[in-house]
Amino acid sequence: MERRERRPETRNSVTAKRDSLEIAWKEIPESLESCKGEEFQRIFAEVRNVIGHQIGNHTLKGIKGFIFHGEPGNGKTLMAKVLAKELELSLFFVDGSVIARELYGQSERQIVKVFTAARKRRSLVLIDDAESIFPDRDWMKGESWHVAQNNILFHQIDDLDTSQTSLIMTTNKFQLLDSALKDRLYAIEFPPIDESTATAIARMKCTEKGIDPAGVEENIRAEPDAFTSGRAIEKMVVREYISQIGGGGRSSSPQE
Ligand SMILES: Nc1ncnc2c1ncn2[C@@H]1O[C@H](COP(=O)(O)OP(=O)(O)O)[C@@H](O)[C@H]1O
Ligand SMILES: [Mg+2]
Repeated sequence: MERRERRPETRNSVTAKRDSLEIAWKEIPESLESCKGEEFQRIFAEVRNVIGHQIGNHTLKGIKGFIFHGEPGNGKTLMAKVLAKELELSLFFVDGSVIARELYGQSERQIVKVFTAARKRRSLVLIDDAESIFPDRDWMKGESWHVAQNNILFHQIDDLDTSQTSLIMTTNKFQLLDSALKDRLYAIEFPPIDESTATAIARMKCTEKGIDPAGVEENIRAEPDAFTSGRAIEKMVVREYISQIGGGGRSSSPQE
């Protein structure tokens, strides 16, 4: 048996380790106004209503949470953060890609710690890029290290008080995620960003940076398939920004 370390708990403060942290909803910088697209709004409303309902009606045995899956950069992490903010829930952020590299035993401890802290208040636990910590048991050929870790997580999920806390996992590799997680959580696929949403995001990012959006809008029109991820759009806006600021002129050419 392991011994539990005692650690001073400070409310709403960043924990000592960087692989997970608690963020008070008021401190979440992302906002609903900056989220674009009908599909995003539709999924957002659905999930917000479920979590809001469970908290508002003290539903102890509701849905434990959701798996957001889809291509990188299509707004999964963004939505989880904005859900926490809009529902006024403390956000417990667990970075799957960081925690997975921890020593044997460390990440289990971290998971238990996060769920224990989350239990004390209205909260949303976000396990981002979860496939790296919870790969499918069959796929891992029963590697004991992962089996132990997954079992600890399943126990935490089964014990979750849904009148207080919900869990969101995000992944770009849905097929690699343990099937027991898919049984416990409701999976929602995030589609690639469509052209009109890409244009709306690009326009907003240009306005934020104080540059003319004509060039990036033209790029999206010319090659919509190249801008189905938020990150691709952001990169293009940055290139345009540098070109407009540095070049002293406007680059509205779709060609590189
Ligand atoms: N619907 C959207 N509205 C506004 N910005 C978006 C949207 N989808 C993605 N983005 C932007 O794209 C970037 C990547 O989104 P993110 O949520 O990190 O993607 P994922 O977690 O799905 O890989 C973010 O900086 C975000 O601001
Ligand atoms: Mg993400």
